[in-house]
Amino acid sequence: MSLISEVKVLKQEAIGPGYYRLDLDAPAAAGAAVPGQFLHVRCGNSLDPLLRRPISIHDVDREKGTVALLYRVVGRGTALLAQKRKDDPVNLLGPLGNGFSMPESSGEVWVLAGGIGVAPLYFLLRELSGLNHRAAVFLGAPASKQLLCAREIKELGHAVATATDDGSEGFFGTVTALFEFFLQNRIKPDRVYGCGPRGMLKELGHILKRKSIPGEISLEERMGCGVGACLSCACRTGDGKGGFRYRRACVEGPVFPAGEVVWE
Ligand code: FES
Repeated sequence: MSLISEVKVLKQEAIGPGYYRLDLDAPAAAGAAVPGQFLHVRCGNSLDPLLRRPISIHDVDREKGTVALLYRVVGRGTALLAQKRKDDPVNLLGPLGNGFSMPESSGEVWVLAGGIGVAPLYFLLRELSGLNHRAAVFLGAPASKQLLCAREIKELGHAVATATDDGSEGFFGTVTALFEFFLQNRIKPDRVYGCGPRGMLKELGHILKRKSIPGEISLEERMGCGVGACLSCACRTGDGKGGFRYRRACVEGPVFPAGEVVWE
C-alpha cells in the first residue's frame, strides 16, 4: 500500500481559539491507523510550503473510512490548512510512527493531556472504550478556553478532571500537579499515557519514575521528512548503560516508554 494519498475534506471546524478539527475522507489511512500515529500533511495546494506538517491522528471511523485531525494554528503551514473547506484536496503521507501499546489487562489506566496533546489521546481513549476499558483522564490547559474535548471524552465513558493555569476551570494549577494530588488520594494506576508540551512531559516522566509507574508518552518533536531520513526529529533516550542514544521520533516514536526519554 502506498503511504501517500490524495484525500478530500469532509468538514473543517473551529473548536477553540486557533484550534481546528479537520475531517477527511481517507479510507486507506483510516484502515491502517493505530492510536498515537500521525499523518504528515501537505498543508497548501502546491510545494509551497515545502515541508509537510506532522499532525496526530485524533479520531478514526474505520467503517466510514474517515480520519479526523485536531491541530493548532502555529505558523504558515497550519494557517493554510485552516483555510481548507469541504471537498478541497489534501495530500497525506502516512499513517507514520509507532503508536501506543494497548494495556493487556483490565488494570487502572490514567491519561494526561496538556493542551493540544489531547489530539492523539482521544483516539487512544476511543479504542480503550471499545475494549470496555474506562480511564481516568486529566486535561490541562493555560485557561478554560483551551481545554479541549472534555465533553467528547466523557461521552466515551471515561472520567475527566480538568486543570487550568489561571484557575478559570477545574483545579488551579498544572495538570501534573493535579495528577500528583490524585496519586496521593487514590490507588496507583497500573499504566499512564501522556501527551503535551515538553515541560509537562518532563515533569510527568519524573513523577512516574519516582513512583515506579509504567507509562508511555508521545513527543511533539519538529519533523522534516517524517520517514527517518533527515534526523531532524532526533531525541535522546537511555541506552540502558547510564548513557543515551538518539532515536528518531518519526520512526521509533513519537511514542516512547516514559522511563526511556532523557530530558536533560
Ligand atoms: Fe526526518 Fe524524523 S523527521 S528523520
